[in-house]
Formats: sequence, C-alpha cells, structure tokens
Amino acid sequence: MCGIVGYIGKQEAVPVLLDGLKRLEYRGYDSAGVTVFNQGKLSCSKTVGRLVKVEELLEKSPLPGTVGIGHTRWATHGRPSDRNAHPHFDCTQRISVVHNGIIENYIELKEWLQEKGHIFNSETDTEVLPHLIEEYYRGSLVEAVQDALKKVEGAFALVVICKDHPEHLVVARKASPLIIGLGKEENFIASDIPAVLPYTRDIFILDDGEMAVVEAAGVQVSDFDGKLLPKKPFHVEWDITAAEKGGYEDFMLKEIHEQPRAVRDTMAGKIDRGEMKVVLPEVKLSAAEINKLQKIHVVACGTASYAGQVGKFLIEKLARIPVEVDLASEFRYRDPIVGPNSLTIIISQSGETADTLAGLREAKALGSRVLAITNVVGSSVAREADDLILTLAGPEIAVASTKAYTTQLLSLYLLAIYLAQERGIISLNDRMGMLEAMMNLPTQIEKVLNTETKIKEFAGNFKDCEDIFFIGRGLDYAVSLEGALKLKEISYIHAEAYAAGELKHGTLALIVEGVPVFAVVTQPELYDKMISNIKEVKAREATVVALALAGDHDTEKSVDYVLHIPLTHTMLTPILSVVPLQLFAYYTAKAKGCDVDKPRNLAKSVTVE
Ligand code: M6R
Repeated sequence: MCGIVGYIGKQEAVPVLLDGLKRLEYRGYDSAGVTVFNQGKLSCSKTVGRLVKVEELLEKSPLPGTVGIGHTRWATHGRPSDRNAHPHFDCTQRISVVHNGIIENYIELKEWLQEKGHIFNSETDTEVLPHLIEEYYRGSLVEAVQDALKKVEGAFALVVICKDHPEHLVVARKASPLIIGLGKEENFIASDIPAVLPYTRDIFILDDGEMAVVEAAGVQVSDFDGKLLPKKPFHVEWDITAAEKGGYEDFMLKEIHEQPRAVRDTMAGKIDRGEMKVVLPEVKLSAAEINKLQKIHVVACGTASYAGQVGKFLIEKLARIPVEVDLASEFRYRDPIVGPNSLTIIISQSGETADTLAGLREAKALGSRVLAITNVVGSSVAREADDLILTLAGPEIAVASTKAYTTQLLSLYLLAIYLAQERGIISLNDRMGMLEAMMNLPTQIEKVLNTETKIKEFAGNFKDCEDIFFIGRGLDYAVSLEGALKLKEISYIHAEAYAAGELKHGTLALIVEGVPVFAVVTQPELYDKMISNIKEVKAREATVVALALAGDHDTEKSVDYVLHIPLTHTMLTPILSVVPLQLFAYYTAKAKGCDVDKPRNLAKSVTVE
C-alpha cells in the first residue's frame, strides 16, 4: 500500500511530486508528504490528511529545489498522524526515505538501532530504514542502502535521498511495485505508471531484487550487490486521458459507464468467428495438458475472488474440471493440495496485491501451472504467470472495482469455453449459442446503464438503512456477494449476501418489517425456488427489490421494486446483473454524501499482507 514518487532534473520538484502523488492517491490517502533538497539541506513538509493539506502547507511555505521524494500513505504500522506520515529521516536529517510495503523484522531492527543510540520519532516500520542506512553510511549512499537492504526482511519499494548526494536518488524494490520514468535530463520515480505519464512514456519496471541509482542524466539498474543489470525500457501505449474523469462526477461512475467498451475490448481478437471458437493468444496450455488437469484452484481477493466464484460455476459446468476458490490471504497458510496436475488461476486487477502474489508464488512452488487474469501489463502477476489473459478494462482508479469485475467475468467465460473446447466436450451449437450471446453483451450492458435514472431515484430510499441483505441462488448468489461488497465498501451500510435457500437456517431471524432485501432472480431453473424465498422474506414484511429478466412480470407481483436486465444466455446473466448492483451501491453512497472514489480505511492497491 501507499504511493511513492521521486524526481530529479531541472524542473521545480514539488509540482512534479504533487502531480504524481495525486495520481497515486488511490493507493492510500490518510497522510502525505515530500522532502526536497535545497541549499545543502533536506526540507520536509508532511501532514496527516489528504494530499490537499500538504499542498496548502507548501503554498504557505514553499520548498524550492529540483530533486525530491514524496509519499501518500495508507496506514499499516502506526495510526495516521503527522509523526507517522512519510518521508522519514535518520537522526542527523541527512537521509530521508519514502517506503511502500512492510518491514517485517522492524521491531528487532529498531531495538538494535536504539541500543546503538538512534532516536525514533514515529511508530512506523519504515523509520528503521533511514536509521539503518545512517548506521551503514560511510560517505557512499549507494553502499549504505545496499548494506541496509541485507538486514531487511519483508516487502519494500523505497526511494532514498541524501543531502550529501543531491546528484542522485537511490531506489530499490522487493515485492512492492516501482517504476522509473525516463526523461531527457530528468527522471521520475513512482509506484505506478499513470504518475509519470504526463512526462514520459518510456519506463523501466523494476523487478524484485533490483535497485537503481537515478541521476538526472541517466539510470543505472543493479541487483542489491551492485551488479549492473541490462534493462529494456517499456513503452506505454495507453493514454493519460483514459485515467482521468472524462466529465463524470466520480471515477467510479465513469468506470461503470466504461463497461460496454471494456468488455468489447477484452473480447476483441479472442473469438474466431469463422470456426466459432475461443482463441487465447497468451495461454499456451496444450489440449494434452488440459486433459490431464485434475483440479483448478482460483486464488484472488475481494471482488476478484467473487469473479472467481462465478468462474467456478462456469468451468465446472462447461469444462467439467473441479474448481476450488480460495481467498489468497488463506490459500498459502492452509497447506493446499496443489500439484503438477493442477492449474491455478490468479485473478487480480492490479496484478500487485500482496496476498494474491504470495498465492501465485505458493502455487508455483508446489508445482502448479499458473494462469493469470489481470488488468495491468507488466504487473508482477502478469510477469510471473505461465499463461495470461489480459482484461483490457483500462486503468481503474476508483477503489471500488467495477469494470475490472465485468472484464474478469468475460475472461472467465472465454477460459471456460476454451477449456471445454480443447477437451472436446462442448458442441459447436452450444459454443455458438454462448459466443453469439457474448458478442451482444456490450450493447446489452448499455441498455442496463439506461436504467440508471430509475436506480438513482429509488436508491436514495435506502440511504438510512442499517442492514441490507442480498439473496440469490447459483450464479445469482455469486453476483449477490459482489453486490453486497460494493454497497458496504462505499456506503458503509452493513450488507450481506446469502444463498437464498440458506436464509431459513439462521439469517431469517434478522428479517423483520422494513429490512431491505435485494433478490437476484435471473436463473430460470431456480426461478420457483427463488420466488418461494422472496415470499418467505415478504411474509416477515421485508422491503424487497428484485432484479429479474426482461419479460418476467410475475416477480413484480411479489416485490416492492423491480429492475430488469435484458435476456441473455443463462450463464451470462452475472455480467448484466452486476451493473444495477453497482449503480445501486453508487447512488446509495452518493445519497449518504460518501466519497465513493476513496472510501474510508481502504486503498485501491493492497500491496501489504
Ligand atoms: O487488484 P486486485 O484485483 O488484486 O484487488 C483485489 C481486491 O483488493 C479488490 O478487488 C477489492 O476487493 C475492491 N476494492 C473491491 O471493490
């Protein structure tokens, strides 16, 4: 978690650092700060609160200088406070550091450094870094950083500035993302690409175990022992405007509206319309390997894991391979039964989620082949997987995932059909039925988006609720999980999803007069059962909103509000039914006055365990 930036060149550093930090605020926003070198010393401005508070401080007391570092924080060790905000310093104010990650052995290191006389000012794990570098400093910043890194365990992306060496910044990466934007007589450092895009499209993506000495005139990449490593720049093709709001009030609303385009792009080039089959260019699994698969594990977090729940249903139904879905934070600690005859599917929008990445590495260590579904080219997940499906959602900035989820679902549809087709167990007719329906999805999502005004009107009625329940069966249950997560993370209303048949085993006790229940009813073979479950909650005087298929006028008779989605193939409904759930969460949160793009306590990219 946290976003870090650095700049060295001829421009004033502060505007460049602040501009970069603004684009990284999705990584954390509970405090922020910058350190700049000027006239032989390091000056720092930092504060608890959003970046705008640092901007205000800097307006009052500007920090001139052409080399500097910056940070936007998501607290892990030490509550959000001025003292815990980065950058942190050594005892002599000679060295300043910004860090993203967790130094796991910081208590041990802190005690050791305190015994040596170092004075600490914060409760953070990060502060051991400047003190450790100070401890090893003999005039060369690079060597001191190398020595310090040998002592450090855990995850880090860091930028170090030293007042004795304003000619360079030293950066290093292990298990937290870090990129270097390559300019002319200037260079940029950031946790993520959008932060440097206004200045350059050529970047170095640092790998784990790599560090770099960044000067205005050039960048030298090496391992932690100083052995120089050849590095090829990566040229970014996508546009910065894709990462901006484009006239919408919030990124989340913009991203909800981008779903037709995102789904269309993710599908492009992956359906052979002549043979009506799926083509996955970066999946190298042969038919023989697919036939040997005994088990598939899906490993992911949050929304991505709920996409995995849909994926399980699809793969088991179409390809007849058993699938287990694991939360990545649980997977590697439960001694999973994974081996050479299993495939692990890693789903991650960012491709940098620490738990998910650890799951990927655990699966590989156990001999499993790994297929990644991710949205970020060049991310750790994309680079470390054997096979890849890229979701072409474009940059997702809002913390609440929307277009990443629908494109993950689309990728899982493609994958399930691909596995079934390579195993020779799906008929051409069935394939055609699904693929043709898939090609209609972008237009159908547009139709669902046209119901926005209706959703906006009634969502406001739920803003003061304390609890909302989401119910569904089969695929509708999987989508309910995502609907409940969306609502709770941005509106702070307690929301839970239940398999509708499970209500009577306990949860029905919570259903009393006026409790809202959102019922998803899109699966024809489960229709009668769902109507019975709706009647059960109505009998307890719940207020029921139903999400039903176009033409279903019976459901209407049993509920208080109804929304319809267009008819599609039974297995494809989740990609349409999630859209009203996203809009419902968005407008309920807006009616409550919440900051939908930056919900409290959360961050977009969770790069700590
Ligand atoms: O980047 P990832 O897909 O690995 O992120 C996983 C979760 O942190 C993410 O889906 C999270 O649950 C979203 N904020 C939910 O909207």
